[in-house]
Parts: sequence; C-alpha cells; structure tokens
Amino acid sequence: MGEQFSKIGFVLAVAGSAIGLGACWKVPYIIGENGGSAFIILYFAMTLILGIPILLAEISMGCFAKSDPVNAFKNLATKGGNLWKFSGFTMIGGPIILSFYTMLIAWIIKYALISFTALPTSIESSRAFFLNFVSSDIISQIIFFSIAFFWIFYILSKGVKDGIEKVNLWLMPTFFVMMLGILFYSMTMKGFLPAVKYMLIPDFSKITLHAFLSALGLAFFTLSLGIGAIITYASSMSEDSNPLVTSIFVAVMNIVVALIMGFIIFTFIFEFNAEPSQGTGLTFISLPTLFGNLGLIGKILSLVFFVGLAFTAVTSAISLVEAPIRYFMKQFGMSRKKAIFYNAAFVYILGILCIVSNLNGSHLRIFGQDLTTVFDSFASNIIMPLGGLLVALFIVFSADKERFHAFFRKFVSEKIFNIWFFLIKFVAPICIIIIFLSALL
Ligand code: TRP
Repeated sequence: MGEQFSKIGFVLAVAGSAIGLGACWKVPYIIGENGGSAFIILYFAMTLILGIPILLAEISMGCFAKSDPVNAFKNLATKGGNLWKFSGFTMIGGPIILSFYTMLIAWIIKYALISFTALPTSIESSRAFFLNFVSSDIISQIIFFSIAFFWIFYILSKGVKDGIEKVNLWLMPTFFVMMLGILFYSMTMKGFLPAVKYMLIPDFSKITLHAFLSALGLAFFTLSLGIGAIITYASSMSEDSNPLVTSIFVAVMNIVVALIMGFIIFTFIFEFNAEPSQGTGLTFISLPTLFGNLGLIGKILSLVFFVGLAFTAVTSAISLVEAPIRYFMKQFGMSRKKAIFYNAAFVYILGILCIVSNLNGSHLRIFGQDLTTVFDSFASNIIMPLGGLLVALFIVFSADKERFHAFFRKFVSEKIFNIWFFLIKFVAPICIIIIFLSALL
C-alpha cells in the first residue's frame, strides 16, 4: 500500500489539479468570446449537473480500487474486466496535455521574468513581441520549457506526500492570496464596474448551441475529469475524507477562481478599452500591455500575476502524469523514478515538438494545424469526453451498484444517492454523447 494524502491534503490536491490554466486562462477568454454572463451561468450549470457527479464517480472508483485507472476498471468490473480495463488507457490524454501545458508554463515564466524589464506599452508591440518569441525564439523557449519541465518532474519524484501534497499545501493558498491582491487593486480602477456588469448581468441572446458545448467541455477540463487523474489521486485518499464535501468545495472554488480571474482580466480590458473577445492572446498580449502602461505598480502586478499563474499551473501539471506513472509501477514493477523517467521523456519530446511546430515556416503540422491545437483538441474533444462517458457507462453497466450505494450512504442521504445515480445513468451519457458527436462533426 502506497502513501496517503492527509484529509486536507487530498482536498487541496484535487483543487490544485482542477484549478489551473483552465480556470485562469481558458474560462475568461471563452467567456469573452461568448458574450459574458449568460455563458457563466451555463458553465455553472454544467459543472453542477455533469461535473460534480462524474467527479464523485471518479473519486469513488479510485477509493475502491486503490490503483491506477487501468487496474481500477479491471478490478472493479463485475464482468468483462479485461475489456473495461481499456477505458483506463484514456490516461494517455494526461502526458499529451502536459506537453503543451509545460510549454504554456514556459511562456508564463518568461513573462514573469520580463515584468521588470521590457513590458510592451502598445497592443501592436505586445503582439509583435509575443509572436516573435513564439515563432522564432527557440533557444529561450527550450530553456524555459526545460525549467518548467524539471520543476514538475522534481515535485513528482518526491512522491505523493512530500511532493504533491506539500506543493499544493503551499502553492495553492499563495496563488489565492496573490490573486486576491490583484483583485483588490483592480477594484480601485474605473474598469471594475463595467467588468462586473459584463460578468453578472446575463444576456441570453448571446447563447448559441456552440456555447452549450463549450461550457460542457470547459466544465470537464477545469475539473480534471475523463483521463483518470482523479481516480489516481483518490487511490491515495485517506478514509476520513468526505468525497461529497471535497467535490462541492473543488467545484465551487474552481468557479470562484474563474470569476475572480474574469473580474481582474475584464477590469483591465475595460479600463483600457480593449476587446473582450480576442481569444487566446488575452493573457499573453493584452494583459502585459495593460501592465506596461501602469508604471512601477504595473510591473509589480505583472510579476505577481504571472508567478501566481505559474504556481496554479504547476499544481495542475503534476496531476496529468500521475496516472501513467502509477500504471507503470504496478504493471511493470518499475520503481517510481523509472516510471517517471519514461513519462518525462515522452512529455519532453512532445513538448519540444509543440514548440518547433509554432516556429515560422515549420512543416511540423497536422492537417495544417500546429501541434498544440491538434493535441489540445485530441485530448479535450475526444479523450476527455470519451473517458467521462466510459466512467458513467461503467458504473451503470458493470460496477457493483450496491458497493457505490453503501459507500455513498456513509456520507449522504438516500435521496442524494438517487439523484447522483440518475445523473450518471441518464444525464451524463446523453450530454456527453451530444458534445462528442458535435465536436467530431
Ligand atoms: N484542470 C486543469 C486546468 O483547468 C487541467 C488538468 C489538470 C486536467 N489535470 C487534468 C484536465 C486532468 C483533465 C484531466 O487547467
């Protein structure tokens, strides 16, 4: 039996995994693209009716199986374990996401470091700076990538308790305090009120079918579902943890962080009359420009912002390869170090390929798309929904329902168990099949 998280350690580890670049970068820009508050309500609803039930399902599976996802599906199946175990291989999504996630952390480190030197002061120069960095500065990208990479795998090499738990215990609260500091500063700006209005007064005319699908995918991504990450963390959960409280706390914190990030980012956007719907460049192009226009205080805010972002990204990154690491250890009897080595090598190679694929004139493209886009859509639009669907179907068709019942009854009423089971049996599969098909079409 391996090491275990403490009670608070488990909650923070799941929160650390969930809250990351998804809540801090994807959610605000997707809110911007979908016209603000009505989308937030959708995202909130998806988290509640789909995210929390699947999160609870993954936690229970990990807690019963005490192993990696492949062996969890295999051993918990009442029949067909040898087929169900293939569901566990959705864990391949983790290292694939980690490759470009590490590249994003490399960019964040670069921006944290330039806070005190060369912040651009116009959107044009900021865009030129960013594009130049991404499309031709391969040397410093590889250096920063390697720093992020060693940071992540060093933490993992320390194991569950001294590595993952400890880092979450420090970095998550530090990130939160940093973010609150910037929020209080942005409250003093005149862009704050328009930002609050933009985020809180719903305009349902902006909601399209596509917005439903984005909200659903985002709820999955920001709760770390569908690739066995939570199953693996829950295998080290201590007996006295309460899965329902953990799930609700994590889902609520995730939304709180996304909202605070949204308030901060849109305050700066409205303060400087920038465009809310500018997509992925929001974090790396407009924010540095806005910081660049605020003098010394801007430099301090920039440093705090990017360091905070790096912290929260690292606590998510470490959860992306824990599942395959555990699988290698159990299946092939490897030491933790050796299992880490193979995963790390895979992530390093894919990550460098992502960087190379962004370079000017690079031929490293698939269907004309850069590798980051290809990896992200493969993991987020195919593997994650598939993984979530398989968890739901597994519980309905193969797992021992009585075992889940007995487990849930220790901490919830009969009624809540029935609601959960209904959501897993009908709502989750139907919703997921809809996003799945529409992402493929
Ligand atoms: N949830 C993280 C974020 O929002 C990303 C992430 C970490 C993730 N681990 C995961 C996504 C496991 C899916 C599965 O940035």
